[in-house]
Amino acid sequence: MSESIVVRNVSKEFTLRYHRSIKQMTIAAMRRQEISEKFSAIDDVSFTVQQGESVGLMGLNGSGKSTLLKLINGVMRPDKGEVLTRGRIAGLIATGAGFHPRLTGRDNVYLNAAILGMTQKETDAKFDQIVEFADIGKFLDVPVGNYSSGMFSRLGFAVAVHTDSDIFLIDEVLAVGDKPFKQKCLARMEEIRKEGRTMFYVSHAARSVRRMCDRVLVLEGGRLGFDGPTAEGIRYVKYDDPKSTGDELAEGLDDEELGADI
Ligand SMILES: Nc1ncnc2c1ncn2[C@@H]1O[C@H](COP(=O)(O)OP(=O)(O)O)[C@@H](O)[C@H]1O
Ligand SMILES: [Mg+2]
Repeated sequence: MSESIVVRNVSKEFTLRYHRSIKQMTIAAMRRQEISEKFSAIDDVSFTVQQGESVGLMGLNGSGKSTLLKLINGVMRPDKGEVLTRGRIAGLIATGAGFHPRLTGRDNVYLNAAILGMTQKETDAKFDQIVEFADIGKFLDVPVGNYSSGMFSRLGFAVAVHTDSDIFLIDEVLAVGDKPFKQKCLARMEEIRKEGRTMFYVSHAARSVRRMCDRVLVLEGGRLGFDGPTAEGIRYVKYDDPKSTGDELAEGLDDEELGADI
C-alpha cells in the first residue's frame, strides 16, 4: 500500500472580528478593547491515510471538518505543517462550489467537470450518466441560480462521482438530499470505495459512517480527538451524551438529526 494523504502537524488560524463598523472599531480601540482574536480552526493535526482507505470524519459543528477537507483539497493552505496528497482529487466540499448561477445545469456540468480536471471529451462521454444520476429532469436547461439546495447538491454530486480520481472527498452534502437520492449516493460511494480509491467522508450519521468507513477521525475544537476503528470512533462521538449507552440510541439520533440517513 502507498500513502495517499499525509497531514503533518497542520494548523490553520482564522481571525474573529467582534466589531463591524468603523465607529464601533474606533470606540473599541479607544477603550483598549480587543477588536479581533485569532483562533485555530485546525490545531496541530497529524495523520496518514493509505491509498484505498475509507475514512469517516466526525465532530461537532465548527470543529474544523470542512476546513480540514479544504486543506486536503488544496483550496486552502495551512499556516503551519504540511499536507501531501497523491493523485487526482475529486469530490464535493461545498454545495454549489464551482457552479455559476447564471449558467444552466447543462453548462455547469461542463464547468464543474473542468474544475475537477476533466476534459470536454471525457465529460461528453459521461454526460448522459451524469444527467441520469442527477435526475433533475427539465431543470437541466434552467440557470442553476433558480435551483433548490437539494437540486444543487444532486448535480454537484453527480459530476463528482463520475470524475476519475484517486482521492474522493465528500462533505455533509448528503444531508440535504431526499431519501432515495441518499440511497443512490451511498451505493455509488460504495462502488468508489471498492474501486480502491481513498475516501474521506464527513458525516454526523453513525449508520452511514459504519457502512462506509474503515476508520474514523474525530475533530474536537480543531484538534484530533480520536483516530481509530469505526465502531470505537462512533462510540467516542456519542461519549458526551449521558443517555447514550449503545448503538440503538445512536441509530435513533441519526434518524432525528438527518431524517434517516439510509
Ligand atoms: N474562512 C473563514 N474565516 C473565518 N473563520 C472561519 C472560516 N472558515 C471556517 N471558519 C471557522 O472555523 C471553525 C471551523 O469551521 P468548519 O471547518 O467549517 O467546521 P465544521 O465543518 O466542522 O462545522 C468555525 O468556528 C468557523 O466559524
Ligand atoms: Mg462543515
